[in-house]
Amino acid sequence: MKKDVVLSIDHLSKKFGKFEALKDVSFDVNKGEVFGFIGPNGAGKSTTIRILLGILKASGGTATVFGQDVWKDSVSIHKRLAYVPGDVYLWPNLSGGEIIDLLLKLGGAKHSARTDELIKQFKLDPTKKARAYSKGNRQKVALIAAFSTDSDFYIFDEPTSGLDPLNEEIFQQNVLKLKQEGKSVLLSSHILSEVEKMCDRIGIIREGQIIETGSLDEMRHLTRTVIRVTTSEQLSELHNQPGVHGVESGTKTNEVTFSVDSEYLDNVMKYLAGKGITALQSTPPTLEDLFMRYYNANGKQVKEVGSHD
Ligand SMILES: Nc1ncnc2c1ncn2[C@@H]1O[C@H](COP(=O)(O)OP(=O)(O)OP(=O)(O)O)[C@@H](O)[C@H]1O
Ligand SMILES: [Mg+2]
Repeated sequence: MKKDVVLSIDHLSKKFGKFEALKDVSFDVNKGEVFGFIGPNGAGKSTTIRILLGILKASGGTATVFGQDVWKDSVSIHKRLAYVPGDVYLWPNLSGGEIIDLLLKLGGAKHSARTDELIKQFKLDPTKKARAYSKGNRQKVALIAAFSTDSDFYIFDEPTSGLDPLNEEIFQQNVLKLKQEGKSVLLSSHILSEVEKMCDRIGIIREGQIIETGSLDEMRHLTRTVIRVTTSEQLSELHNQPGVHGVESGTKTNEVTFSVDSEYLDNVMKYLAGKGITALQSTPPTLEDLFMRYYNANGKQVKEVGSHD
């Protein structure tokens, strides 16, 4: 294992009976990195995470955290790991504050100034009994406990699904704080704006297979830039330029909108420059575009997998 790798997953597979929930999952998370684990419902994010936590046993492949086997060495791994699931279940008769302290104690940590700070940030009323909490409030309890521990690796499985935008922002600030402290984070999500802001690299999983891993910049290369341009000469040959798609005339004379594969951007700009550019607007590709391409490519199967839930 390389020194700065916190999590290493190599050809991991998991079968539930005949159903292959994970077919071939490989990726690493480096020290100090926030890694986004992105995929549609039923893609295998939680299954992967449950294997990392030692809750499920893999059918094949290997996974190590801190260089230790996730199944055999789970007790020792858990001493340096914090985890928040998407569905948080709490003891109904305890108050939020009592549960936070209990979760901390179970993890060998203590209620600290940081805990109080987090309770304030997330505006949690810690005196209420857990049975009276909404989904978002239950998530806050688990997040506050996780963020107040001093762990080396934090795993969040769709942790903000019940949080409103303000609390999501607080969540993001705290993840960035962990990153500044050199901690490592695995964050599963299908909210792309969340990932774009926080993650250094992302892995896209679909139907139990990683289909893409890389930095956001690397992924953006796979997407198209939208250009709106006005030129002094007519752009009669634009639609024949390589990499150009969806040419549409605008409202003004010689105004067109089109998209271009990022790798052909240079060629297209040269072509446009030869026609006398008088106005130009470009919209950079978003991760959303990239993700939608994967959804569209196999929308049907995505649905079928989701229906197993
Ligand atoms: N214990 C189980 N027994 C049988 N099938 C399971 C089990 N756990 C998960 N699955 C199936 O494995 C697939 C992957 O599920 P998983 O929960 O990992 O998806 P996910 O990516 O976390 O989805 P979501 O975004 O909805 O949380 C799904 O088709 C699911 O139905
Ligand atoms: Mg899940």
